[in-house]
Amino acid sequence: MYCMEQLVEMELASSSKERKELQKKIVSTETVPKIAKIQLVSSHAEVYEPCDDSFLLVDALLADRSNLISQNPKFCLEIGCGSGYVITSLALIVSQYCPWTQFYATDINLHATHTTLQTSANHGVHVEVVATDIALSLQKRLQKSIDVLVINPPYVPTPEDEVGADGIVASWAGGFKGRMVIDRILNVVDELLSVNGLIYMVALSENDPYDICQVMREKGFGSRIALQRSTEEERLCVIKFWREKETSEDGERADNGSSLNGWLGKVPFVNSLRRKSSESKSS
Ligand SMILES: C[S@@+](CC[C@H](N)C(=O)[O-])C[C@H]1O[C@@H](n2cnc3c(N)ncnc32)[C@H](O)[C@@H]1O
Repeated sequence: MYCMEQLVEMELASSSKERKELQKKIVSTETVPKIAKIQLVSSHAEVYEPCDDSFLLVDALLADRSNLISQNPKFCLEIGCGSGYVITSLALIVSQYCPWTQFYATDINLHATHTTLQTSANHGVHVEVVATDIALSLQKRLQKSIDVLVINPPYVPTPEDEVGADGIVASWAGGFKGRMVIDRILNVVDELLSVNGLIYMVALSENDPYDICQVMREKGFGSRIALQRSTEEERLCVIKFWREKETSEDGERADNGSSLNGWLGKVPFVNSLRRKSSESKSS
């Protein structure tokens, strides 16, 4: 957890670049960050258990946590939450630094929504979980406001009629090239993501990650492979996306928006400290 002095120092940083440097320094000196504990993850026969892909996604979030935290995220969403391992880990990583962040998760499988609620409660974090297709019933409410979107979609190439089946089959069935659900998700991310929003999505080599990046590029998103790992069965990667025009990869606004919009900016005594600091710099 940041101490108040560190938060004030960050808020007083004269540029957002300086602030991000400070945040990175603080995060790099922290002790082992908390993520969900497997023994506290609830399970159900019809719900996907945390597996290599889930661990890869959480590892990518951990590796990029200084960028995640420097986003000061207000809303985070996971599409297809399964057991709740990923969204709970994200909540544990982010909320120790950003206690105001709200976490949402969706799944088409009703059993998964119950399991995620239990997993998050077991870890003492609050996640609003909604049973819906992709993010349909949240789209209006969370329009252009998601700061961090995480997705481990059903990506296995299967016959198309398996896609959207009930229960556990929906966890993996991805149709042609494993892209049927992925492509539907890619169609709604622009609607969901905030200006500085970041997306982390798992993909399999058979999904053609290069083509996924091209599709997203046409929608105005930059991308890079954040992490990749091969197992005996599959080659997986996590692709990170950000809005190309307005932001750089770490969510930095192109106009280099200062830390004035940070939550500490709303605390009166910090504002007076900031004024004093700029007065002393200009004198
Ligand atoms: C590969 S599992 C990932 C589960 C969990 N996020 C994890 O990483 O362990 C994919 C999840 O997406 C859900 N899912 C499949 N199609 C969906 C859709 N159209 N809308 C929402 N969730 C969906 C499945 O029910 C499943 O829980």
